Amino acid sequence: MKKTNTRECMTNLQSELTANELTLLKEKILESDHKGRILEIGTAAGGTFVEMFNTLKESQPEIAPNKFVVIDTFEYFTDHLGIWKSNLEKNSINPDEIDIRKGDSYKIFKQTQNEKSDYSFILVDASHLLKNMIRDIRWLERLKVGGIAAFHDYSTNFPGVQIAVNVLLKNNSNYKKVNLVESLLVIEKTAETTSREISCCQIFLYTVLSKLLDLKRSAKKRLKKIGL
Ligand SMILES: C[S@@+](CC[C@H](N)C(=O)[O-])C[C@H]1O[C@@H](n2cnc3c(N)ncnc32)[C@H](O)[C@@H]1O
Repeated sequence: MKKTNTRECMTNLQSELTANELTLLKEKILESDHKGRILEIGTAAGGTFVEMFNTLKESQPEIAPNKFVVIDTFEYFTDHLGIWKSNLEKNSINPDEIDIRKGDSYKIFKQTQNEKSDYSFILVDASHLLKNMIRDIRWLERLKVGGIAAFHDYSTNFPGVQIAVNVLLKNNSNYKKVNLVESLLVIEKTAETTSREISCCQIFLYTVLSKLLDLKRSAKKRLKKIGL
């Protein structure tokens, strides 16, 4: 039977970022190069998307809605895409003008190999599992020089997010940390990447590590259940 998830944002339609994280996100989106496209990977009910869209629209009324790209499986909760679209409509945004990509973020990445690398802002907030996070890092290949990437849930509560972003930063000196507010980390791409942000070998290695982390997590749960 298919698992149905519940999330507060499903009913309140709000952003899952805290007020301080949202302030940083908006500040950075306003500072970014408005000629590029804006991407959100993992949008839930669209609360953060609405905030990003309206912030840019206020300062750049002429900005085209199709500059905004959203990726999500839209299978997290019942009528996920319907809820997302109605949230946009409620906020006077026409969802049909947005570039919506439904599916797994890495599959979409591979299916769109020929698209332009013209993103000026990428918010990564989809699956927090290491095996998926390490793959989502590949989207940064499409970030322009001077572009900003933001990662939500960069905290010890989500080792998958922390490890993947730390690997990126350690191996690519052309990315620098800009700000960390609560669990929102903002980084900037300062120069072109010479090879690739994350190699195939690293993807393989961190997929194995992800499985080990899963085993550790479920062993911990079982031990707790039996009082050990
Ligand atoms: C943490 S929520 C996003 C919260 C949203 N950014 C906000 O601030 O309101 C994660 C979202 O990522 C989506 N997701 C999870 N795994 C995914 C994957 N592999 N590819 C695309 N989307 C995924 C889920 O459907 C869910 O909507």
